[in-house]
Amino acid sequence: MMRCDILTLFPSMVKSVLETSMMSLAQAKGLLDVTVIDIRSFTHDRHRTADDRPYGGGAGMILKPEPILEAIDSICATHPNTRIVMTSPRGRKFDQAYAQKMSEDSHRLVFICGHYEGIDERVHMIMATEGRKVDEVSIGDYVLTGGELAALVMIDASVRLIPGVLGSTNSVKEESFSSTLLEYAQYTRPVELRAARVPDVLLSGHHGAIRKWKHRSSLASTYARRPDLLTGRALAHADQLILTDIQKEEDTEKSDSPRRLSS
Ligand SMILES: C[S@@+](CC[C@H](N)C(=O)[O-])C[C@H]1O[C@@H](n2cnc3c(N)ncnc32)[C@H](O)[C@@H]1O
Repeated sequence: MMRCDILTLFPSMVKSVLETSMMSLAQAKGLLDVTVIDIRSFTHDRHRTADDRPYGGGAGMILKPEPILEAIDSICATHPNTRIVMTSPRGRKFDQAYAQKMSEDSHRLVFICGHYEGIDERVHMIMATEGRKVDEVSIGDYVLTGGELAALVMIDASVRLIPGVLGSTNSVKEESFSSTLLEYAQYTRPVELRAARVPDVLLSGHHGAIRKWKHRSSLASTYARRPDLLTGRALAHADQLILTDIQKEEDTEKSDSPRRLSS
């Protein structure tokens, strides 16, 4: 069971995703519990002001620290076992290992979604000084408009790893990044489409051969698309042989290609 709060200026944006597909199913199964909290409900002025101009000048607005800190205080008053997750492009990079860790975390996870130019630095400072567990997490080296999509990405990737959320545990085990490899190529009907045919082995019903084919396909896909995932990995001898074979095949294909011939 994953318990989360999402602090945001745009609750409806988050709720619409939580009410759809796997996230909604996980909540219905009692494996995900999410509360969406409007940061503005912790403001005290008539205009419900949650942002202000940056000191020292510069573009855009900054989220004020008081409403966010008050919201956290109020959550921690009833749930002392919390971990704060500040969405931020400067945070440590979210990946499958991090998703696995989140899916097993017994803390209540409080996602803070920044917006505009970001959040007053003192939110992080004060939470750390007060001894709260705080992680700053980025979903990649690019800048989003707000932390809502980042929080949803993290929750989505984590929840599907909780046993019972997906129909089959195999779908998680075989997925990209669950080992060091990307997932193998997948096919569905029809068997033939234009000039492309589903590999015969997948139609053979021979489970051993299918398993081998899938493993080879995983290796080939990783080698072609993300060779960095293989760098420095101690591959089993059998996998090294398969890779050598894949490399040879690729070299032959390249030398047969028109581009190579004409150069
Ligand atoms: C427009 S961004 C602020 C960017 C900030 N001015 C900077 O240059 O680092 C507004 C908010 O979106 C969220 N955000 C943007 N990019 C993100 C990323 N790659 N990962 C996680 N959160 C992100 C954060 O909550 C951030 O406070």
